[in-house]
Amino acid sequence: MKTRTTANPVTSAVPGIQPAEFQARRARLMAELTSNDVAIVPGASIRYRNRDTEYPFRQDSDFYYLTGFDEPDSVLVLAPGSEPASTVLFCPERDPAREQWTGERLGPERAPQALGVDAAFPNSRLEEILPRILNGRWCVHTVMGEHPEFDQRLIACASTARARGANAGGCEFQPLQRLLHEHRLIKSPAEQQLIAAAGSITADAHTEAMRHCRPGLSETQLEAVLVHAFMQAGARAPAYPSIVAGGRNACVMHYVRNDSLLADGDVVLIDAGCELEHYASDVTRTFPVNGTYSPRQRDLYEVVLAAQAEAIAAAVPGANCTGPQDASTRVLTEGLIDLGLIPGGIDEALETKAYQRFTVHRCSHWLGIDVHDVGDYRCNGDWRELQPGMVLTIEPGLYIPDGPGFDDVDEAWRGMGIRIEDDVLIEESGNRVLTDAVPKAADDIEALMRH
Ligand code: GLY
Ligand code: MN
Ligand code: MN
Repeated sequence: MKTRTTANPVTSAVPGIQPAEFQARRARLMAELTSNDVAIVPGASIRYRNRDTEYPFRQDSDFYYLTGFDEPDSVLVLAPGSEPASTVLFCPERDPAREQWTGERLGPERAPQALGVDAAFPNSRLEEILPRILNGRWCVHTVMGEHPEFDQRLIACASTARARGANAGGCEFQPLQRLLHEHRLIKSPAEQQLIAAAGSITADAHTEAMRHCRPGLSETQLEAVLVHAFMQAGARAPAYPSIVAGGRNACVMHYVRNDSLLADGDVVLIDAGCELEHYASDVTRTFPVNGTYSPRQRDLYEVVLAAQAEAIAAAVPGANCTGPQDASTRVLTEGLIDLGLIPGGIDEALETKAYQRFTVHRCSHWLGIDVHDVGDYRCNGDWRELQPGMVLTIEPGLYIPDGPGFDDVDEAWRGMGIRIEDDVLIEESGNRVLTDAVPKAADDIEALMRH
Protein backbone atom coordinates (compact mmCIF):
# COMPACT_ATOMS: atom_id res chain seq x y z
CA MET A 1 0.00 0.00 0.00
CA LYS A 2 1.14 3.51 -0.75
CA THR A 3 2.13 5.33 2.38
CA ARG A 4 1.89 9.03 2.86
CA THR A 5 5.21 10.72 2.22
CA THR A 6 4.26 14.36 2.49
CA ALA A 7 5.71 16.39 5.32
CA ASN A 8 3.10 19.04 4.66
CA PRO A 9 1.74 20.55 7.89
CA VAL A 10 -1.89 20.44 6.72
CA THR A 11 -1.99 16.85 5.51
CA SER A 12 0.45 15.32 7.98
CA ALA A 13 -1.86 16.41 10.81
CA VAL A 14 -4.59 14.15 9.37
CA PRO A 15 -4.15 10.44 10.03
CA GLY A 16 -5.92 9.29 6.84
CA ILE A 17 -7.60 5.93 6.48
CA GLN A 18 -5.69 3.15 8.26
CA PRO A 19 -5.38 -0.43 6.88
CA ALA A 20 -7.63 -1.75 9.67
CA GLU A 21 -10.45 0.50 8.47
CA PHE A 22 -10.25 -0.84 4.90
CA GLN A 23 -10.32 -4.34 6.38
CA ALA A 24 -13.35 -3.50 8.53
CA ARG A 25 -15.17 -2.16 5.44
CA ARG A 26 -14.61 -5.49 3.67
CA ALA A 27 -15.75 -7.41 6.74
CA ARG A 28 -18.93 -5.36 6.88
CA LEU A 29 -19.75 -6.10 3.25
CA MET A 30 -18.80 -9.74 3.70
CA ALA A 31 -21.22 -10.02 6.64
CA GLU A 32 -24.07 -9.06 4.30
CA LEU A 33 -23.26 -11.86 1.85
CA THR A 34 -24.49 -15.44 2.14
CA SER A 35 -22.65 -18.56 1.00
CA ASN A 36 -24.50 -18.21 -2.34
CA ASP A 37 -23.10 -14.73 -2.91
CA VAL A 38 -19.90 -13.28 -4.25
CA ALA A 39 -18.96 -9.59 -4.52
CA ILE A 40 -16.62 -8.68 -7.35
CA VAL A 41 -15.15 -5.18 -7.46
CA PRO A 42 -12.91 -4.24 -10.39
CA GLY A 43 -10.37 -1.46 -9.99
CA ALA A 44 -9.70 1.16 -12.65
CA SER A 45 -7.31 0.83 -15.58
CA ILE A 46 -5.05 3.41 -17.18
CA ARG A 47 -6.91 5.60 -19.67
CA TYR A 48 -5.37 7.47 -22.57
CA ARG A 49 -5.71 11.17 -23.15
CA ASN A 50 -4.26 11.12 -26.64
CA ARG A 51 -2.07 8.62 -28.47
CA ASP A 52 0.19 7.09 -25.76
CA THR A 53 -0.21 9.90 -23.23
CA GLU A 54 -2.03 8.72 -20.13
CA TYR A 55 -4.53 10.56 -17.96
CA PRO A 56 -3.33 10.70 -14.36
CA PHE A 57 -4.49 7.41 -12.84
CA ARG A 58 -7.53 7.60 -10.58
CA GLN A 59 -8.59 4.44 -8.77
CA ASP A 60 -12.20 3.28 -8.97
CA SER A 61 -13.99 4.72 -5.93
CA ASP A 62 -15.70 1.49 -4.76
CA PHE A 63 -12.46 -0.48 -5.16
CA TYR A 64 -10.51 2.18 -3.28
CA TYR A 65 -13.12 2.26 -0.49
CA LEU A 66 -12.64 -1.45 0.09
CA THR A 67 -8.88 -1.78 -0.39
CA GLY A 68 -6.99 1.54 -0.17
CA PHE A 69 -4.97 0.09 -3.07
CA ASP A 70 -4.03 2.67 -5.65
CA GLU A 71 -2.61 0.64 -8.55
CA PRO A 72 -4.34 -0.08 -11.88
CA ASP A 73 -5.76 -3.35 -13.23
CA SER A 74 -6.73 -5.09 -10.02
CA VAL A 75 -9.88 -6.90 -8.88
CA LEU A 76 -11.21 -7.60 -5.39
CA VAL A 77 -13.33 -10.70 -4.80
CA LEU A 78 -15.26 -11.31 -1.59
CA ALA A 79 -16.74 -14.80 -1.26
CA PRO A 80 -17.61 -15.94 2.27
CA GLY A 81 -16.13 -19.36 3.04
CA SER A 82 -14.65 -19.81 -0.40
CA GLU A 83 -11.63 -21.85 -1.50
CA PRO A 84 -8.83 -20.83 -1.87
CA ALA A 85 -9.78 -17.85 0.30
CA SER A 86 -12.65 -15.55 1.20
CA THR A 87 -10.98 -12.27 0.28
CA VAL A 88 -8.94 -12.45 -2.88
CA LEU A 89 -7.09 -9.75 -4.77
CA PHE A 90 -6.01 -10.09 -8.38
CA CYS A 91 -3.32 -7.58 -9.28
CA PRO A 92 -0.52 -7.16 -11.83
CA GLU A 93 2.49 -9.39 -11.43
CA ARG A 94 5.78 -7.69 -10.63
CA ASP A 95 7.94 -7.21 -13.69
CA PRO A 96 11.33 -5.50 -13.32
CA ALA A 97 11.37 -4.40 -16.96
CA ARG A 98 7.93 -2.74 -16.63
CA GLU A 99 8.81 -1.25 -13.27
CA GLN A 100 11.63 0.69 -14.94
CA TRP A 101 8.81 2.62 -16.59
CA THR A 102 6.00 2.54 -14.05
CA GLY A 103 7.87 2.46 -10.76
CA GLU A 104 7.55 -0.19 -8.10
CA ARG A 105 4.37 -2.28 -7.95
CA LEU A 106 3.08 -4.10 -4.90
CA GLY A 107 2.61 -7.46 -6.64
CA PRO A 108 0.56 -10.44 -5.42
CA GLU A 109 3.34 -11.77 -3.18
CA ARG A 110 3.24 -8.73 -0.90
CA ALA A 111 -0.47 -7.86 -1.16
CA PRO A 112 -1.80 -10.07 1.68
CA GLN A 113 0.60 -8.54 4.18
CA ALA A 114 0.20 -4.97 2.90
CA LEU A 115 -3.57 -4.95 2.40
CA GLY A 116 -4.83 -7.64 4.77
CA VAL A 117 -6.48 -9.72 2.02
CA ASP A 118 -6.44 -13.50 2.52
CA ALA A 119 -4.79 -14.28 -0.81
CA ALA A 120 -3.57 -12.50 -3.93
CA PHE A 121 -2.88 -13.75 -7.44
CA PRO A 122 -1.56 -12.26 -10.66
CA ASN A 123 -4.48 -10.85 -12.62
CA SER A 124 -3.41 -13.10 -15.53
CA ARG A 125 -4.79 -16.03 -13.44
CA LEU A 126 -8.29 -14.57 -13.06
CA GLU A 127 -9.81 -16.88 -15.71
CA GLU A 128 -8.34 -19.90 -13.92
CA ILE A 129 -9.24 -19.02 -10.33
CA LEU A 130 -12.46 -16.99 -10.49
CA PRO A 131 -14.56 -19.84 -11.98
CA ARG A 132 -13.51 -21.95 -8.97
CA ILE A 133 -14.65 -19.22 -6.60
CA LEU A 134 -17.95 -18.94 -8.51
CA ASN A 135 -18.53 -22.64 -7.96
CA GLY A 136 -21.94 -22.98 -6.29
CA ARG A 137 -22.47 -19.22 -6.03
CA TRP A 138 -25.28 -18.03 -8.17
CA CYS A 139 -25.58 -14.42 -7.00
CA VAL A 140 -22.81 -12.11 -8.21
CA HIS A 141 -22.85 -8.59 -6.74
CA THR A 142 -20.91 -6.33 -9.04
CA VAL A 143 -21.01 -3.03 -10.91
CA MET A 144 -21.81 -3.71 -14.55
CA GLY A 145 -21.19 -1.21 -17.33
CA GLU A 146 -18.42 0.90 -15.79
CA HIS A 147 -15.56 -1.40 -16.82
CA PRO A 148 -16.72 -2.97 -20.12
CA GLU A 149 -13.54 -5.01 -20.68
CA PHE A 150 -13.71 -6.51 -17.23
CA ASP A 151 -17.45 -7.22 -17.66
CA GLN A 152 -16.55 -9.45 -20.61
CA ARG A 153 -13.94 -11.32 -18.56
CA LEU A 154 -16.42 -11.80 -15.73
CA ILE A 155 -19.14 -13.14 -18.03
CA ALA A 156 -16.60 -15.56 -19.52
CA CYS A 157 -15.69 -16.77 -16.00
CA ALA A 158 -19.38 -17.24 -15.15
CA SER A 159 -19.80 -19.27 -18.38
CA THR A 160 -16.79 -21.42 -17.50
CA ALA A 161 -18.21 -22.11 -14.03
CA ARG A 162 -21.53 -23.08 -15.56
CA ALA A 163 -19.90 -25.30 -18.22
CA ARG A 164 -18.13 -27.17 -15.43
CA GLY A 165 -21.54 -28.04 -14.08
CA ALA A 166 -21.12 -26.14 -10.85
CA ASN A 167 -23.77 -23.50 -11.52
CA ALA A 168 -26.28 -25.33 -13.67
CA GLY A 169 -28.73 -22.46 -13.43
CA GLY A 170 -26.10 -19.87 -14.28
CA CYS A 171 -25.48 -16.70 -12.28
CA GLU A 172 -27.70 -13.84 -11.33
CA PHE A 173 -26.02 -10.42 -11.37
CA GLN A 174 -27.06 -7.97 -8.68
CA PRO A 175 -25.95 -4.32 -8.41
CA LEU A 176 -23.24 -4.11 -5.77
CA GLN A 177 -24.24 -0.48 -5.26
CA ARG A 178 -27.33 -1.55 -3.33
CA LEU A 179 -25.13 -2.82 -0.49
CA LEU A 180 -21.91 -0.87 -0.74
CA HIS A 181 -23.22 2.61 -1.42
CA GLU A 182 -25.27 2.54 1.75
CA HIS A 183 -21.99 1.96 3.62
CA ARG A 184 -20.23 4.79 1.80
CA LEU A 185 -23.00 7.26 2.61
CA ILE A 186 -22.15 7.48 6.33
CA LYS A 187 -18.61 8.75 6.79
CA SER A 188 -16.36 7.35 9.53
CA PRO A 189 -14.44 9.73 11.83
CA ALA A 190 -11.30 9.27 9.68
CA GLU A 191 -13.25 10.05 6.51
CA GLN A 192 -14.80 13.11 8.14
CA GLN A 193 -11.32 14.34 9.05
CA LEU A 194 -10.06 13.87 5.50
CA ILE A 195 -13.03 15.67 3.96
CA ALA A 196 -12.59 18.47 6.50
CA ALA A 197 -8.87 18.69 5.66
CA ALA A 198 -9.67 18.80 1.94
CA GLY A 199 -12.25 21.51 2.67
CA SER A 200 -9.75 23.53 4.65
CA ILE A 201 -7.17 23.43 1.83
CA THR A 202 -9.89 24.40 -0.64
CA ALA A 203 -11.10 27.28 1.53
CA ASP A 204 -7.55 28.67 1.67
CA ALA A 205 -7.22 28.31 -2.11
CA HIS A 206 -10.43 30.31 -2.70
CA THR A 207 -9.20 32.98 -0.30
CA GLU A 208 -5.93 33.19 -2.25
CA ALA A 209 -7.88 33.53 -5.50
CA MET A 210 -9.88 36.44 -4.06
CA ARG A 211 -6.63 38.13 -2.99
CA HIS A 212 -5.07 37.73 -6.43
CA CYS A 213 -8.05 38.70 -8.55
CA ARG A 214 -7.98 41.92 -10.57
CA PRO A 215 -9.36 43.14 -13.91
CA GLY A 216 -7.31 42.02 -16.89
CA LEU A 217 -6.18 38.76 -15.32
CA SER A 218 -7.31 35.73 -17.28
CA GLU A 219 -9.53 32.98 -15.89
CA THR A 220 -6.61 30.62 -16.59
CA GLN A 221 -4.32 32.69 -14.37
CA LEU A 222 -6.89 32.66 -11.57
CA GLU A 223 -7.24 28.88 -11.95
CA ALA A 224 -3.45 28.64 -11.57
CA VAL A 225 -3.73 30.32 -8.15
CA LEU A 226 -6.14 27.60 -7.02
CA VAL A 227 -4.09 24.70 -8.35
CA HIS A 228 -0.93 26.18 -6.82
CA ALA A 229 -2.62 26.46 -3.43
CA PHE A 230 -3.99 22.90 -3.62
CA MET A 231 -0.63 21.39 -4.45
CA GLN A 232 1.35 23.53 -2.00
CA ALA A 233 -0.91 22.19 0.72
CA GLY A 234 -0.31 18.58 -0.30
CA ALA A 235 -3.39 17.83 -2.40
CA ARG A 236 -2.31 16.21 -5.64
CA ALA A 237 -5.18 17.34 -7.87
CA PRO A 238 -8.56 19.03 -8.07
CA ALA A 239 -11.49 16.70 -7.38
CA TYR A 240 -13.16 17.85 -10.64
CA PRO A 241 -12.33 20.35 -13.39
CA SER A 242 -12.21 23.80 -11.82
CA ILE A 243 -14.75 26.34 -13.04
CA VAL A 244 -13.44 29.90 -13.21
CA ALA A 245 -16.17 31.84 -14.94
CA GLY A 246 -16.14 35.61 -15.32
CA GLY A 247 -19.29 37.57 -16.21
CA ARG A 248 -21.75 35.75 -18.43
CA ASN A 249 -19.60 32.59 -18.44
CA ALA A 250 -20.99 31.90 -14.96
CA CYS A 251 -24.34 31.06 -16.57
CA VAL A 252 -22.80 27.98 -18.22
CA MET A 253 -23.05 25.33 -15.50
CA HIS A 254 -20.09 23.27 -16.66
CA TYR A 255 -17.91 26.11 -17.94
CA VAL A 256 -14.36 24.73 -17.86
CA ARG A 257 -12.70 26.59 -20.75
CA ASN A 258 -11.44 29.18 -18.25
CA ASP A 259 -9.78 31.13 -21.04
CA SER A 260 -11.47 34.57 -21.00
CA LEU A 261 -10.16 37.77 -19.54
CA LEU A 262 -11.72 38.96 -16.28
CA ALA A 263 -13.48 42.27 -16.90
CA ASP A 264 -13.76 45.27 -14.60
CA GLY A 265 -17.35 45.42 -13.33
CA ASP A 266 -18.08 41.67 -13.67
CA VAL A 267 -18.34 39.09 -10.94
CA VAL A 268 -16.36 35.86 -11.25
CA LEU A 269 -17.72 32.50 -10.13
CA ILE A 270 -15.15 29.94 -8.96
CA ASP A 271 -16.30 26.37 -8.33
CA ALA A 272 -13.24 24.35 -7.37
CA GLY A 273 -12.18 21.82 -4.77
CA CYS A 274 -9.14 19.70 -4.11
CA GLU A 275 -9.07 15.94 -3.74
CA LEU A 276 -7.11 14.75 -0.72
CA GLU A 277 -6.23 11.05 -0.49
CA HIS A 278 -9.24 10.26 -2.71
CA TYR A 279 -11.69 12.45 -0.77
CA ALA A 280 -13.26 15.47 -2.44
CA SER A 281 -14.15 18.99 -1.45
CA ASP A 282 -16.47 21.18 -3.50
CA VAL A 283 -16.69 24.95 -2.92
CA THR A 284 -18.07 27.88 -4.88
CA ARG A 285 -17.64 31.59 -4.30
CA THR A 286 -18.73 34.45 -6.53
CA PHE A 287 -16.95 37.76 -6.06
CA PRO A 288 -16.38 41.06 -7.87
CA VAL A 289 -13.39 41.10 -10.24
CA ASN A 290 -12.53 44.66 -9.14
CA GLY A 291 -13.21 44.06 -5.45
CA THR A 292 -16.56 45.86 -5.16
CA TYR A 293 -20.01 44.45 -5.99
CA SER A 294 -22.25 46.74 -8.02
CA PRO A 295 -25.62 47.42 -6.35
CA ARG A 296 -27.36 44.92 -8.67
CA GLN A 297 -24.71 42.26 -8.17
CA ARG A 298 -24.99 42.73 -4.43
CA ASP A 299 -28.79 42.51 -4.51
CA LEU A 300 -28.66 39.19 -6.33
CA TYR A 301 -25.78 37.97 -4.16
CA GLU A 302 -27.65 38.69 -0.93
CA VAL A 303 -30.59 36.56 -2.11
CA VAL A 304 -28.32 33.57 -2.78
CA LEU A 305 -26.48 34.06 0.51
CA ALA A 306 -29.76 34.16 2.45
CA ALA A 307 -30.93 31.03 0.63
CA GLN A 308 -27.72 29.24 1.56
CA ALA A 309 -28.06 30.23 5.24
CA GLU A 310 -31.62 28.87 5.38
CA ALA A 311 -30.59 25.69 3.59
CA ILE A 312 -27.68 25.09 5.97
CA ALA A 313 -30.02 25.64 8.93
CA ALA A 314 -32.30 22.93 7.48
CA ALA A 315 -29.45 20.38 7.22
CA VAL A 316 -29.82 18.73 10.64
CA PRO A 317 -30.19 15.11 11.74
CA GLY A 318 -33.70 13.77 11.38
CA ALA A 319 -34.61 16.35 8.74
CA ASN A 320 -35.63 15.22 5.34
CA CYS A 321 -32.68 15.34 2.93
CA THR A 322 -34.63 17.57 0.59
CA GLY A 323 -35.22 20.08 3.44
CA PRO A 324 -32.25 22.24 2.39
CA GLN A 325 -33.52 22.24 -1.19
CA ASP A 326 -37.02 23.32 -0.12
CA ALA A 327 -35.67 26.05 2.17
CA SER A 328 -33.36 27.37 -0.52
CA THR A 329 -36.05 27.35 -3.21
CA ARG A 330 -38.40 29.40 -1.06
CA VAL A 331 -35.80 32.08 -0.29
CA LEU A 332 -34.57 32.26 -3.89
CA THR A 333 -38.13 32.57 -5.15
CA GLU A 334 -39.00 35.33 -2.66
CA GLY A 335 -35.83 37.14 -3.72
CA LEU A 336 -36.63 36.82 -7.42
CA ILE A 337 -40.11 38.25 -6.75
CA ASP A 338 -38.69 41.15 -4.69
CA LEU A 339 -36.22 41.99 -7.46
CA GLY A 340 -39.01 41.94 -10.07
CA LEU A 341 -37.49 39.03 -11.96
CA ILE A 342 -40.58 36.85 -11.63
CA PRO A 343 -44.18 37.86 -10.93
CA GLY A 344 -45.38 37.41 -7.29
CA GLY A 345 -46.98 35.91 -5.01
CA ILE A 346 -44.80 33.30 -3.54
CA ASP A 347 -47.34 30.43 -3.45
CA GLU A 348 -48.14 30.79 -7.12
CA ALA A 349 -44.46 31.11 -8.09
CA LEU A 350 -43.63 27.97 -6.12
CA GLU A 351 -46.58 26.16 -7.67
CA THR A 352 -45.72 27.11 -11.26
CA LYS A 353 -41.95 26.74 -10.64
CA ALA A 354 -41.44 30.16 -12.22
CA TYR A 355 -38.09 30.30 -10.40
CA GLN A 356 -36.68 27.28 -12.19
CA ARG A 357 -35.33 29.06 -15.26
CA PHE A 358 -33.06 31.04 -12.90
CA THR A 359 -32.12 28.31 -10.38
CA VAL A 360 -31.27 25.54 -12.89
CA HIS A 361 -29.74 22.90 -10.55
CA ARG A 362 -30.55 21.30 -7.20
CA CYS A 363 -29.00 22.76 -4.07
CA SER A 364 -27.32 19.67 -2.60
CA HIS A 365 -25.51 16.42 -3.26
CA TRP A 366 -23.60 13.91 -1.16
CA LEU A 367 -19.84 14.41 -0.97
CA GLY A 368 -17.12 11.81 -0.34
CA ILE A 369 -14.75 9.76 -2.46
CA ASP A 370 -16.76 11.02 -5.42
CA VAL A 371 -17.62 14.68 -5.64
CA HIS A 372 -21.20 13.70 -6.47
CA ASP A 373 -20.98 10.89 -3.97
CA VAL A 374 -23.02 7.71 -3.90
CA GLY A 375 -26.07 6.86 -1.82
CA ASP A 376 -29.77 6.95 -2.56
CA TYR A 377 -31.61 10.17 -1.84
CA ARG A 378 -34.87 8.25 -1.49
CA CYS A 379 -35.72 5.10 0.46
CA ASN A 380 -38.85 3.20 -0.59
CA GLY A 381 -40.01 6.26 -2.49
CA ASP A 382 -39.59 8.74 0.40
CA TRP A 383 -36.79 11.28 0.83
CA ARG A 384 -34.32 9.83 3.30
CA GLU A 385 -33.53 11.40 6.66
CA LEU A 386 -30.25 13.16 7.27
CA GLN A 387 -28.06 11.30 9.78
CA PRO A 388 -24.85 12.12 11.63
CA GLY A 389 -21.85 11.25 9.44
CA MET A 390 -23.45 12.26 6.16
CA VAL A 391 -21.64 14.98 4.22
CA LEU A 392 -23.43 17.09 1.64
CA THR A 393 -22.93 20.30 -0.27
CA ILE A 394 -25.27 23.26 0.05
CA GLU A 395 -25.05 25.27 -3.15
CA PRO A 396 -27.92 27.53 -4.18
CA GLY A 397 -27.42 29.65 -7.27
CA LEU A 398 -29.17 32.16 -9.53
CA TYR A 399 -28.28 32.51 -13.20
CA ILE A 400 -29.54 35.13 -15.63
CA PRO A 401 -28.11 34.33 -19.06
CA ASP A 402 -27.74 36.95 -21.73
CA GLY A 403 -28.98 34.77 -24.52
CA PRO A 404 -31.90 33.12 -26.23
CA GLY A 405 -34.97 32.68 -24.08
CA PHE A 406 -34.14 35.55 -21.73
CA ASP A 407 -35.06 38.53 -23.94
CA ASP A 408 -37.98 39.27 -21.63
CA VAL A 409 -35.64 39.93 -18.66
CA ASP A 410 -34.47 43.51 -18.01
CA GLU A 411 -31.13 43.81 -19.82
CA ALA A 412 -29.43 45.23 -16.73
CA TRP A 413 -29.76 41.84 -15.00
CA ARG A 414 -28.54 39.70 -17.85
CA GLY A 415 -25.15 38.00 -18.01
CA MET A 416 -24.84 37.32 -14.27
CA GLY A 417 -24.48 34.02 -12.45
CA ILE A 418 -24.08 33.63 -8.69
CA ARG A 419 -23.55 30.45 -6.67
CA ILE A 420 -22.35 29.96 -3.10
CA GLU A 421 -21.37 26.42 -2.12
CA ASP A 422 -20.07 24.90 1.11
CA ASP A 423 -19.49 21.37 2.39
CA VAL A 424 -21.56 20.43 5.43
CA LEU A 425 -21.12 17.53 7.86
CA ILE A 426 -24.24 16.35 9.69
CA GLU A 427 -23.47 15.94 13.38
CA GLU A 428 -25.52 14.69 16.36
CA SER A 429 -26.07 18.27 17.48
CA GLY A 430 -26.76 19.84 14.08
CA ASN A 431 -24.14 20.41 11.45
CA ARG A 432 -20.65 21.73 10.85
CA VAL A 433 -19.71 23.77 7.80
CA LEU A 434 -16.33 22.37 6.80
CA THR A 435 -15.43 25.13 4.36
CA ASP A 436 -16.42 28.34 6.11
CA ALA A 437 -12.86 29.66 6.43
CA VAL A 438 -13.32 31.38 3.07
CA PRO A 439 -15.39 34.56 3.42
CA LYS A 440 -18.84 34.73 1.91
CA ALA A 441 -20.53 37.82 3.38
CA ALA A 442 -20.29 40.49 0.68
CA ASP A 443 -18.68 42.99 3.09
CA ASP A 444 -16.11 40.43 4.23
CA ILE A 445 -15.17 39.57 0.64
CA GLU A 446 -14.80 43.26 -0.24
CA ALA A 447 -12.68 43.84 2.89
CA LEU A 448 -10.41 40.91 2.00
CA MET A 449 -10.01 42.13 -1.57
CA ARG A 450 -9.08 45.66 -0.44
CA HIS A 451 -5.92 44.34 1.26
N1 GLY B 1 -18.61 21.14 -8.76
C1 GLY B 1 -19.72 20.33 -9.04
C2 GLY B 1 -20.87 20.67 -8.23
O1 GLY B 1 -20.89 21.71 -7.61
O2 GLY B 1 -21.77 19.89 -8.08
MN1 MN C 1 -19.18 22.73 -7.00
MN1 MN D 1 -21.39 20.64 -5.74
